Amino acid sequence: MGEIDVPGMLASRDTLLASAAERARAYLAAIDARRVPPTAEAVAALDQFDVPLPERGLDPGRTLALLDDVGSPATVATNGPRYFGFVNGGALPIAVATSWVLAAWDQNAALRIMSPVAARFEAVALRWLTELFGLPAGITGGFVTGATMANATCLAAARDAVLSSAGWDAAAHGLVGAPPIEVVVSAESHTTVHKALGLVGLGRDRATRLAVDRQGRVCPTGLPSLRRPAIVCLQAGNVNSGASDPFVPLVEWARQQGAWIHVDGAFGLWAAASPKLARQVTGIDGADSWATDAHKWLNTTYDCGIALVRDPDALRSSMRAQAAYLVAEADHETMEFTPQSSQRARGAEVWSVLATLGRDGVAALVEQSCALAGRFAKGLTAAGIRVLNDVTLNQVVVDFGDPDRTDAVIAAVQEDGTCWCGPTTWQGHRAMRISLSCWATTANDVDLSVAAVVHCASQRRA
Ligand SMILES: Cc1ncc(COP(=O)(O)O)c(C=O)c1O
Repeated sequence: MGEIDVPGMLASRDTLLASAAERARAYLAAIDARRVPPTAEAVAALDQFDVPLPERGLDPGRTLALLDDVGSPATVATNGPRYFGFVNGGALPIAVATSWVLAAWDQNAALRIMSPVAARFEAVALRWLTELFGLPAGITGGFVTGATMANATCLAAARDAVLSSAGWDAAAHGLVGAPPIEVVVSAESHTTVHKALGLVGLGRDRATRLAVDRQGRVCPTGLPSLRRPAIVCLQAGNVNSGASDPFVPLVEWARQQGAWIHVDGAFGLWAAASPKLARQVTGIDGADSWATDAHKWLNTTYDCGIALVRDPDALRSSMRAQAAYLVAEADHETMEFTPQSSQRARGAEVWSVLATLGRDGVAALVEQSCALAGRFAKGLTAAGIRVLNDVTLNQVVVDFGDPDRTDAVIAAVQEDGTCWCGPTTWQGHRAMRISLSCWATTANDVDLSVAAVVHCASQRRA
C-alpha cells in the first residue's frame, strides 16, 4: 500500500497555489477576447479526462496543468462580459479572490464553535442584506446553494408554521394525516418554486395558479378566498420579462386570507437595492419569506442562494438538528437555520462583495444591467427586431418572426460566438432571452452583441 507523501505535498504547496493563481489570472485576462461558447474541438478534447481511475496518482502540478490546459478552453465564458444566458451573472474579482482565501481557510460554517469567523461574517451579511432590501429588522435566514434551495427552505418553514397554527406539528409528524394546505402560486411561477413545493411535500402540480397579465405579473383582481392553512407564492422578477408581481394589493389580500406569503426573488429582489428601481417591488417587505441568489446579480461565485424568513422561530423549528456532540453555543447556529449541516462560509463572500461595493455600488451594479438591457432592446428594435416585453429590469425577450426562424437565429448567434443568448417560450411565443447581470458588461459589449444578433437575423432572412 502506498502512503500520502506529506513532505512532498507541503513542499509543492506554494508552487501549486502560485500556479493556480497565475492560471486563473490568465484565464480571466483572456476572457473578453475569446468566443463565449467553447469550440466543438475544445469540448471533444474533454475525452482526455475520461480515463480509468489511475492506480498511481499524478503529480499535483501536472493535474492542475491538465485541468487548466484542457478544461479552460472548454468552459463557457459565463464570467465574461457577453454571456446573456439564463440569469448567470459573472463573479466580481473580489468574489473570486475571497473564494480563494475561503478555500484555503476550509471552514465548516455549520456551528460557531467550528468557525467563529464564518458565523460572524454570516450574521453581518444577513443584517446588511436585510437593510439593503428594506426588509423588516430582526428577520433571519441562511445561505444555501441557490434560489431553488432557498425556495425549498422558506417553503419548509412556511409549511411547518401554517400547520402549527392549525394545531399540527409537521416537523415532528410529517404530512401524513395533516390538514391539507392550500397553496397558491402565480401562473408564471418559476419552475423551481414547483420543484421546491414538491421537495417539501406540497406537490409540484397541486397549487392553484393565479392569472397573470401580459408581462407575467399576477393580476390583483378576482382573487380567490383561501381555506386555511394556506401559502401564497409571489414573484419578484419574472425569468422572461423581469416583471414583478404587484405586492401591495397581493400582500393585503393574502394577509386577509391568513396565508404565509413567500416571494421568489432570485434576481428580482435586487431591484429593492436600487433607489431607482425599488418601486418595482414596493410592498415586498410585507411577505413572510424571501428567496434570492447572490450568485446571480450580486456576482458572487457559485454557489450562493439566500433564504430569508421573518420569524426566526419558524425557520429554526424546521431546520433544527441537535446531537450531544454538536455543540450549539449561540442563539443563531447556522446549521439550525439551513437544510445543510456542513457548509462553506458563503456569508463571508457575500460580506466581502457587499463591503467592496457598498450600498451605492450594489445599486450601480443593478442599475447598470437594467440600462444595458434597455440599450440592447433599443438596438434590436431599431433594426426591426421585435422585443416582446416591457424592458423594465434586466431581461429582454425577442421574437424573430416564426418559431423556426427564431430557433435558427438563436443557433446562429450561439455559433457566431460573439455573445450567448438562449431560447425560451413565453406567453405562446418562441423567443430569444437576453439577460444582463454581469458587472463587466459595457455599452460596447452590448453594441457588439446587437450587431452580431442583427447580422445573424439578417442572414437567416436571406
Ligand atoms: C425567478 C427564479 N427563481 C428561481 C431560480 C433558481 O435559481 P438557482 O438556479 O440559483 O437555484 C431562478 C433561476 O434562474 C429564477 O430566475
